[in-house]
Amino acid sequence: MRILLYTGKGGVGKTSVSAATAVRCAELGYRTAVLSTDPAHSLGDSFDRRIGSNMVELAPNLWGQEIDLLSQMDQYWGTVQGYLNALFMWQGMDSLVAEETAVLPGMEELSSLMQITSLAESGRFDVIIIDAAPTGSTLQLLSFPDIARWYIEKIFPFQRKTIQLARPMVKRMTDMPLPSDEIFDSIEELVSFLERMSRLLSDGTQSSMRVVLNPEKMVIKEAQRAYTYLNLYGYSVDAVICNRVFPRSLSDQYFDIWKSAQASNLEFVHECFQPLPIFEVPLFEQEVMGISMLGQMANAIFGPATTRGGDGDPTQHFYIGKPQQIFRNERHYVLSLPLPLVERDEVQLHRSVFDELVIRIGNWKRNVALPIGLAKLDIAGAKYVGDRLNIYFDTGDALPEISEEELKPTRWEALKSRFRRN
Ligand SMILES: Nc1ncnc2c1ncn2[C@@H]1O[C@H](COP(=O)(O)OP(=O)(O)O)[C@@H](O)[C@H]1O
Ligand SMILES: [Mg+2]
Repeated sequence: MRILLYTGKGGVGKTSVSAATAVRCAELGYRTAVLSTDPAHSLGDSFDRRIGSNMVELAPNLWGQEIDLLSQMDQYWGTVQGYLNALFMWQGMDSLVAEETAVLPGMEELSSLMQITSLAESGRFDVIIIDAAPTGSTLQLLSFPDIARWYIEKIFPFQRKTIQLARPMVKRMTDMPLPSDEIFDSIEELVSFLERMSRLLSDGTQSSMRVVLNPEKMVIKEAQRAYTYLNLYGYSVDAVICNRVFPRSLSDQYFDIWKSAQASNLEFVHECFQPLPIFEVPLFEQEVMGISMLGQMANAIFGPATTRGGDGDPTQHFYIGKPQQIFRNERHYVLSLPLPLVERDEVQLHRSVFDELVIRIGNWKRNVALPIGLAKLDIAGAKYVGDRLNIYFDTGDALPEISEEELKPTRWEALKSRFRRN
């Protein structure tokens, strides 16, 4: 089973690329599902037909669905939400406000990913393609196996045992709604679901993330930042799709300036994303709509279809390895990059903007967006270690640990203290 997740800024071509990938996979005989999680769905537009929130068959081996966030949220979080709602209202909150407040941060997005997990577990599909722009916070939330449990426990600071013991007494003193066994069961189920999803998406043998971008400075910068965080959280990114590249045959004076700007931006894309493969897709003469155009786009991305597992199969792992690693040793944070076969010359480091690091070794150049945690640290040095280049960031002696307080979702802290006071 393969999960292919396309991410990138709005408008770059995520939906088109996801749909094109799906068309190719189905053509190769994989049982394929393509799902969009963007509330402003456009998967239907790509296939030039209505899709909607139920899974529909689009072609042989090919199914599609535009996930309805609200109903998914209700399915997975409904019980818990219902209880929180009752609790807020008991505390005197207006019912509408209570309902709003009971929607936890990230809940909507998590719900759509949960739907994907359950599809993956169903065994119905060989390939699941996700047209999504998951926000950094959701991916962060999902990147650590235990974080789901931690999150839920912070939200739900009651223990089943304590409630069972206290229930008779509390009942005599107040009419505050206490979570029932059913609610605890539902939370357990949620936690285990989130943990499974976390495992699935961070398992590089099954899930690959692909960055879609256009050769425009602002778009590249944003994609570069997302890429840094995907690496930081340990997801496998195996390709970059550079969409809307002007075809070489374009010979129009008006476009010459645009073309030369694109050429320099394409070079920048390589500096940012090497050693990942970068697939260029031309700007077509018309919008990408309908299965035949999508097939054409698949040709541009993956090359002609051959056989399963051969060239042109989108389920390949296009890159295996850790293109950017960040870890901590006793004194430093270390940014570790794989090096191509370059002459091991002097390493030149240059910080162009405060969070951007440019690395030069002879003619070879890389450009890395630093995560906030590293951007504020001084660089202590760089060293070749095996076939990688390690760059050391001074943590100083007193590395400020992130306090638990800073990490807590504040809204839930407020709830907890109010809960205690009553
Ligand atoms: N390479 C391309 N050539 C021509 N039109 C394209 C190309 N890629 C995408 N489009 C068109 O651009 C629009 C936005 O693409 P879409 O895939 O919906 O972007 P996203 O999902 O990232 O918002 C659509 O109308 C699509 O048909
Ligand atoms: Mg889209």
